[in-house]
Amino acid sequence: MANNRENWGSKIGLILAMAGNAIGLGNFWRFPYQAAKNGGGAFLIPYFIALVMIGIPVMLVEWNLGRYGGKYGHGTLGPMVYLQAREGISPKNAAIIGALSGALAFAVTLLVNSYYNQIIGWTLGYSYLSVTGGYMDTAKSTGDIFVNYIQSPQIFIFWLLALLGLALAVTRGVQKGIESWAKLMMPVLYIFGIILAIRALTLGSPINPDWSSLKGLNYIWNPDFTKLNWKASLAAAGQIFFTLSIGMGIIANYASYLKPDDDVVVSSLATISLNEFAEIILGGTAVIPIAYAFLGPEGVNKGVGLSFIALPNVFRSMAGGQIFGALWFLLLFFAGFTSAIAMFNYLTALVEEDLKIKRSKAAWIIFFGYIIVGLPVGLEPILTKTADLVYLTEVDNWVGSYLLLVLGLIEVIVAGWLMRERALEELNRGAIWKVPTWFFNLFVKIIAPVAVATLLFFSTKTYIE
Ligand code: PHE
Repeated sequence: MANNRENWGSKIGLILAMAGNAIGLGNFWRFPYQAAKNGGGAFLIPYFIALVMIGIPVMLVEWNLGRYGGKYGHGTLGPMVYLQAREGISPKNAAIIGALSGALAFAVTLLVNSYYNQIIGWTLGYSYLSVTGGYMDTAKSTGDIFVNYIQSPQIFIFWLLALLGLALAVTRGVQKGIESWAKLMMPVLYIFGIILAIRALTLGSPINPDWSSLKGLNYIWNPDFTKLNWKASLAAAGQIFFTLSIGMGIIANYASYLKPDDDVVVSSLATISLNEFAEIILGGTAVIPIAYAFLGPEGVNKGVGLSFIALPNVFRSMAGGQIFGALWFLLLFFAGFTSAIAMFNYLTALVEEDLKIKRSKAAWIIFFGYIIVGLPVGLEPILTKTADLVYLTEVDNWVGSYLLLVLGLIEVIVAGWLMRERALEELNRGAIWKVPTWFFNLFVKIIAPVAVATLLFFSTKTYIE
């Protein structure tokens, strides 16, 4: 089949674009709040287990799915799953699995965006708030400032600005744009994160001498087996899916712009390493210890607002805090934005390629779709006059932690079992380091599907209750 899709410009551009896709609000907003909510030290145990048992195999599978699908001109999950599955089962059954996984991926991606874009709006709003000194007054707690901010109708403006920016970026064709943005933003993000993490580690608590940031580090890094349960394990595995951008087919979508012989193995591992550095070393080390120093062991469980409540404390106690604060939230904005572009590009490709609608029109359809699914999330704090964000938290919990795993299960079953012996050959084509057969058989075929299925099985009951 003729293939005249765009390709990535350079290897380093591709890796940074993938890192831009994976590194986002998941690392700096979601990871700290999920870790604190699930008991700190109890969260990191299943987190690392899930990274190895599920994250690495699924990442390899997605790069492979994507490059394979791209060869046939397809960049979305449904057709990719169909193409691989038809090698092992009848085309009719493959089409059913393809359609189901495509529809689920579409719905999940849309729902993730119902809140992801709002939070991008918060980062933009908080950059503005930093410049104008909106949280510098130490007489008000940063928690109260967040509560007020989230209930103000002006957050709508920032949300809409973020959405409009996204739609414009995507309608203009993105690969080249994404690459140049990523090359600039990702290194700056790392440098900033490192500065903030170092600052965080030297922080004593001005509130309680027992709450230093080093105690906060201990809180997250001290494995607490007594708090381990199925729900925390599912949350940890969900976080792996969310932060690595796997499950929805979005990594696969970027990989569909690869050339057929481009390496996918080392590239997958590079994406994971860059993302985990940003998540554990930067997100985890900066946000949680800072939160701990100012809010104490009981206060760190602040839910989805944690990053926005913790960090302003540091900015207002440091020289030039308004500027540092503005830069930090702006960087978070870019981190979120590059991930949101990946999702927007994906949904647009889905409407464009699967429903045969022109790209620019498809992008606007997604834009309005985002507004519709985003409205309840945006209106909740304004109408309820609280910042409990129950709806947002619940959607994030279901979509971000549960449904991503369902999709991941489909992917590994298709790649490990339905594609038969060609799967490994396909994965290793053009690879600098080849994935050994034993690793593929053990991890992709057995460990990843069994681990995901087990987690879903044991946690479903607690989810439904
Ligand atoms: N991985 C991104 C983050 O950490 C979010 C994301 C999830 C992007 C799923 C695309 C797909 O913020």
